[in-house]
Amino acid sequence: MSAFPATRLRRLRRTGALRALVGEARVELADVVMPYFVGTEALPNEALPAMSRHTVDGLVREVDGLASAGVPAVILFGIPGEKDDEGSGAWDENGIVQQALRALRERFPELLLLTDVCLCEYTAHGHCGVLAGGEVDNDATLELLARTSVSHVEAGADAVCPSDMMDGRVGAIRHALDEAGFHLTPIVAYSAKYASAFYGPFRDAADSAPAFGDRRGYQMDPANVREALRECELDLAEGADVIMVKPALPYLDVIRAVHERFDVPVAAYNVSGEYAMVKAAAARGWLDERQAALESLTAIKRAGADIVITYWAEELASWL
Ligand code: PBG
Repeated sequence: MSAFPATRLRRLRRTGALRALVGEARVELADVVMPYFVGTEALPNEALPAMSRHTVDGLVREVDGLASAGVPAVILFGIPGEKDDEGSGAWDENGIVQQALRALRERFPELLLLTDVCLCEYTAHGHCGVLAGGEVDNDATLELLARTSVSHVEAGADAVCPSDMMDGRVGAIRHALDEAGFHLTPIVAYSAKYASAFYGPFRDAADSAPAFGDRRGYQMDPANVREALRECELDLAEGADVIMVKPALPYLDVIRAVHERFDVPVAAYNVSGEYAMVKAAAARGWLDERQAALESLTAIKRAGADIVITYWAEELASWL
């Protein structure tokens, strides 16, 4: 290729139409998922609107706007009225997520309903599984996650997303779904989920901060990428249909590595702290929220994500 002046890369950057024509990664509404928090009482959050908690009725109203804006999918998180040591609200057939699923399923037959499967919002101690001797008991937790998954699908979920990071949970859930006749329900596994400080605003919204200790005994060490590939490999062997990397922005290299290694759809979760950082800076006039959000989401797609879970999903509909 001849060098300057014959080659001028600015030629293709001159107009919006040219840039769009040659653009590589693109954020599309069809690829995004909007998270929602549903509880027995509403808990609005003005600074971080997407971190608000809704009642079932309130959620139906919210989703009305979202679905008419063209967002194809939601992921639900439930905050039960009562918590206990086992997290039994998670698989209660009249639990908060199950109620929300029934209400949404009836009202929005086309909308994709995903659910987060984890015990941390339901346990009194806030850990993602049941405890034994002050530690999270991996194998005792598996059956509870499987039960929770089946109850979500019975209530109308299109896919379940285990986020607990117990070893063997994808296999346990796949087996339970198949036994219940749900062979066609996909599992979107939070495979490479890191022990991250960026979940802070979520834990306030979901009331799910651990009462003691932290999650480093089960979530991944931020230092590791090869281990992320092992997590994905195991989840796929156990029957995961989609693998996820979470958080997204500090882990773009992990998204890229996972995308290159595995020929399956890759999801990335642009988490609450990533959303909150931009919101906080924008509130001070330091960043333009729309530009910063679009750039973040484009970068996540460029890194190799096929699906992006983002608190900007609804606004994105008006931005694109
Ligand atoms: C449940 C779960 C968490 C998030 C998604 N599922 C919190 C955690 O692991 O502590 C975080 C999402 C976000 O921060 O937006 N285990």
